[in-house]
Amino acid sequence: MITAVAQLLYYLYTFLMKFISEKTMNQYNLKGIYQEIWEYLGIGVVDRNSGFHTFSLATINGDIPDNRTVVLRGCDKENMKLSFNTNNFSKKIKHISNNYKVSALFYDKEKKIQIRIMGNAYINNGNLYCQEKWEKMSDQSKECYYQNINPGDVIDSPDDVKTKIINETSISFTIVDININSIDWLSLSASGHTRARFMKENKFDGEWIAP
Ligand SMILES: Cc1cc2nc3c(=O)[nH]c(=O)nc-3n(C[C@H](O)[C@H](O)[C@H](O)COP(=O)(O)O)c2cc1C
Repeated sequence: MITAVAQLLYYLYTFLMKFISEKTMNQYNLKGIYQEIWEYLGIGVVDRNSGFHTFSLATINGDIPDNRTVVLRGCDKENMKLSFNTNNFSKKIKHISNNYKVSALFYDKEKKIQIRIMGNAYINNGNLYCQEKWEKMSDQSKECYYQNINPGDVIDSPDDVKTKIINETSISFTIVDININSIDWLSLSASGHTRARFMKENKFDGEWIAP
């Protein structure tokens, strides 16, 4: 009996040590951090409870910055892309049409990790890519793309806004791809914050920067 307990304790100890050392190693390993960023973003796409499911998208409106929350709908490590869905008649599309430079800001409170992405936005509307995504969407998700009044327009009353569902792809449905130029990663810790940067011009190799 004592041997069994001792053995169990030993297994628990080795498992815990392995877990802790992997975590600590990752904290100081640029390649590990890079892998982890993509792992977290991947989870963000599919798990609505993840801290990475939504992000703040910043656009430039003339010389005025603007931002809003959007849902992360896709991430592609091979092609260094993120994507989100939006209404083609929204203000953010106007901003992007005039200036494709955008920033995406994520913060996971539990993990205490901030990911800050800079990129060039590309607007997809009415193409095969949109059509394929549209067909996989639920009716509930499709509904907001049938709005009779464009987002951001002034209305007399909230009741003026109606959604009339038509059984065809809405021309409002747009997918924005963000082609990533740089990723800034910040991990908060009582024992000291850690920050790293991954840039396209350095082939996303990664470098440490002061937090
Ligand atoms: C949790 C949350 C998720 C949202 N997701 C999206 C989204 O995926 N796409 C989108 O266009 N707007 C989304 N919105 C609404 C936007 O934040 C914003 O109000 C709207 O798109 C109009 O922005 P614009 O006038 O800057 O274009 C979301 C809002 C919240 C609070």
